[in-house]
Amino acid sequence: MKTPLVAAVFRAPRRPLELEALDLDPPGPGEVAVRMVASGVCHSDLHVVDGEWERLTDLVLGHDGAAVVEELGPNLAERPADAPLDAGGLRVGDLVVLSWIAPCGACRACRRGEAWLCARPIGGDHRVEPPAVRLRRPDGSPIGVYCGIGTFGERQVVAAGAAIPVDPATPPEIAALIGCAVTTGVGAATKTAAVRPGESVVVIGLGGVGLSVVMGAALAGADPIIAVDRVPEKLAVARLAGATHGLQAGGGPRPGVRAGRGVRAAAEGALSPEEIRATVRDLTGGGADHAFEAIGLTATVEQAVELVRLGGTVTLVGMTPQGQRAGIDVYDFVEQGKVLRGSTYGSAVPALDFPRIARLYLEDRLPLDLLVGERIGLEGIDSALAAMRRGEGLRRVVVY
Ligand SMILES: NC(=O)c1ccc[n+]([C@@H]2O[C@H](COP(=O)([O-])OP(=O)(O)OC[C@H]3O[C@@H](n4cnc5c(N)ncnc54)[C@H](O)[C@@H]3O)[C@@H](O)[C@H]2O)c1
Ligand SMILES: [Zn+2]
Ligand SMILES: [Zn+2]
Repeated sequence: MKTPLVAAVFRAPRRPLELEALDLDPPGPGEVAVRMVASGVCHSDLHVVDGEWERLTDLVLGHDGAAVVEELGPNLAERPADAPLDAGGLRVGDLVVLSWIAPCGACRACRRGEAWLCARPIGGDHRVEPPAVRLRRPDGSPIGVYCGIGTFGERQVVAAGAAIPVDPATPPEIAALIGCAVTTGVGAATKTAAVRPGESVVVIGLGGVGLSVVMGAALAGADPIIAVDRVPEKLAVARLAGATHGLQAGGGPRPGVRAGRGVRAAAEGALSPEEIRATVRDLTGGGADHAFEAIGLTATVEQAVELVRLGGTVTLVGMTPQGQRAGIDVYDFVEQGKVLRGSTYGSAVPALDFPRIARLYLEDRLPLDLLVGERIGLEGIDSALAAMRRGEGLRRVVVY
């Protein structure tokens, strides 16, 4: 039996998403049908819409989502009613955070325990190859599902391994953001870079991801935590999230993007890259132990390398348009013994880290409410993406 739903479909770069009525097949073996409850709008959706990352068209975007399990595929046994959430398996009615990597469990990375580097994640082809297609237009033609979860749709069929149960007391918006921004940012600080108590941290870019890096650094006991963004509102939120200092950057808007009101205001009284460097040196006694880039601009990637001390670690979280290269002064970099590393999905093992992060939130140890801005419907995604292009506002979340 087919289930009808509405979803926001990416048809071509630099065009608005289209709301379409689609049909969903029942779950196959190893799959579950879910009803979406919330989805964040992440810059990794915007990169696709803006044509900066080449992806399939006729694709339901969204990858930062939470859902409720409605039906288990034919070969899946329900988790017993009295078993704890982390006993493995799913039950109809579970609140699940959707993972944009459903680890295959068999590749070398999975066998090393590095699920975030899985070479063959289930649904990683966006479910467009015939055996994996579950979503179709009324004429039967297949629709792809971003990262195998396509959270900008009212319902989806996903791999059971992509649906991670969390405490049902977790609010839908928070559960959704754990699916990408929070896990990516908190994990970059606590897992990838493994920041230690008393280490100094600078975070460049304070969107949903960068603010989560700040929270992760605070959780790890970092001090000072210097937050950098060109939008003053973000600096104020970063202070609430645990940053000890906020520096307003004067960097202009992304090429081709008209400055919004917030951006122009930010340019007044903002610090130049040289002033930021001098201030970070002053505050850290010569350079930060850790710098995180959470925007995805080559200029701020290069800046991050300049902001760490000798032997300091630069962790890149932001992702540029595909094919861009950043430059480092190799002589200085080597002589100064610096470390440069990439962080994908916060080095997370979703099945362990999602429920743990939800618990930290419920125990008031991670102030994730600070991330949530406007709640919108599916029809509001295009204006949410436009506001994100301008750097305005906090994380917008689609609430179903
Ligand atoms: N590594 C991963 O696994 C992973 C996961 C999710 C997202 N990402 C990437 O992380 C990046 C950030 O995502 P997001 O959703 O938080 O984005 P976002 O658009 O919400 O936030 C970007 C922030 O950077 C600020 N900014 C922009 N240009 C600036 C400049 N020149 N100087 C200072 N601040 C500037 C903006 O004001 C904004 O606050 C994106 O590139 C996204 O694709 C990576
Ligand atoms: Zn794998
Ligand atoms: Zn994301």
